[in-house]
Amino acid sequence: MDKFVIEGGHRLSGKVAVAGSKNSLLALIPAVLLAPGIYRIHNAPNLRDVWTFSRLFGSMGVHAELNNNELFLDSTTITSFEAPYEHVKKMRASIYALGPLLARHGQAKISLPGGCAFGPRPVDLHLKGMERLGAVIELDGGYINAKAERLHGAKFNFDISSVGATVNMLLAASLAKGTTLLTNAAVEPEVTALARMLVKMGAKIDGIGTTTLEIEGVDDLKPVDETNIPDRIEAATLLIAAAMTRGKITMTNVNPYHMTNVLAKLEEVGCTIDVTGETIELEMNDAPQPAHITTTPYPGFPTDVQAQWTSLMCLANGTSRTTDTIYTTRFGYVPELVRMGASIDIVDNSAIVQGGKPLKAATVMSSDLRASACLVLAALVAEGKTDVLRIYHLDRGYEKLEHRLTALGANIKRVHTEEF
Ligand code: UD1
Repeated sequence: MDKFVIEGGHRLSGKVAVAGSKNSLLALIPAVLLAPGIYRIHNAPNLRDVWTFSRLFGSMGVHAELNNNELFLDSTTITSFEAPYEHVKKMRASIYALGPLLARHGQAKISLPGGCAFGPRPVDLHLKGMERLGAVIELDGGYINAKAERLHGAKFNFDISSVGATVNMLLAASLAKGTTLLTNAAVEPEVTALARMLVKMGAKIDGIGTTTLEIEGVDDLKPVDETNIPDRIEAATLLIAAAMTRGKITMTNVNPYHMTNVLAKLEEVGCTIDVTGETIELEMNDAPQPAHITTTPYPGFPTDVQAQWTSLMCLANGTSRTTDTIYTTRFGYVPELVRMGASIDIVDNSAIVQGGKPLKAATVMSSDLRASACLVLAALVAEGKTDVLRIYHLDRGYEKLEHRLTALGANIKRVHTEEF
């Protein structure tokens, strides 16, 4: 098992290119089940989650290779319609196989994902949606067993805005017979990226980028080459890192339109931000001002950035509040920040931060992907050397984070350890 050893107090400066988005790639990959053939996805991040996903689809017969950030996928022969527990327990997004397997192959057996480190994460909307399209679903032995002769179009309203359920419904409805109308659909850039790829494959989708999607099912789709979008969560993490160290960085290969809310908040707390095309420059010379954030579906403040934001607020002189309305118990990182000297109370679904207390090095433990990023950020400014344990969580979603941070001037080392 690896840990990071991070010496705090080094200012970040220089240029950094953002990797391709993990979450959008995870939505694009299942599309290959909809049409047999060869696909190439450019700007694919080399991440643990991507390997896990490739192994899952490999177990269904999809041949996958990742070289130089190009993901090659061959879905010519599908040999299994199952997502077994051993894969799903590592990756909840495995449920994305449900829609395309049902739509093209008429059957799917998918292990039910359990909860996760930051609370219960139901899949009821995925199941209700598939049933609305005509699937017959049974739950048995921890598995979803689903069947359909041919899915048919239908009207479906998402009670809650859900990225995953919208992805699954887009995948399924593209090959269903007739028209599907999805309302209160998620509008996250990762959903839009999938919709664009499906259109390239021959799907007929209206309303892309809005909460109302109309999909006219087609009989066949064709394989395509696609370019993945930049990772807005990694970009936000690196910008917050620069802000915390009072640094100055130039970020390339980023889509600033995907992160207007985070950029506005960074400006509000005192960062100078300059956006030109696919480049963002950030400079910060003082401690941040305190500022409240509340996570909401896109284009609101992302839940995947709230932990990193709380780290930043530990440096602000004053009180701030981080509220998560999407995952209301996603605060597993708070006790670890407190061990580093932060003053934070959890009240309902908010972390109340009394900022300005000096952060000091400690041994801390990651509990999930974004929690580990938040601890790395705190360690960058803590006095002394911090050990961040269990960084396998971080490796799920950040490509070579330590290399990117080192190139910007951080002192961060990956060390193999027996500590757990
Ligand atoms: C995706 C992202 C994750 C991000 C989350 C919210 C991927 C692989 N993961 O997760 O990083 O934190 O969006 O932006 O892209 N819900 C239900 N029933 C369902 C589905 C969801 O009640 O069937 C609820 C969830 O508990 C949550 C809310 O809806 O409260 C939003 O979840 P959702 O958008 O589905 O998250 P994911 O797609 O799992």
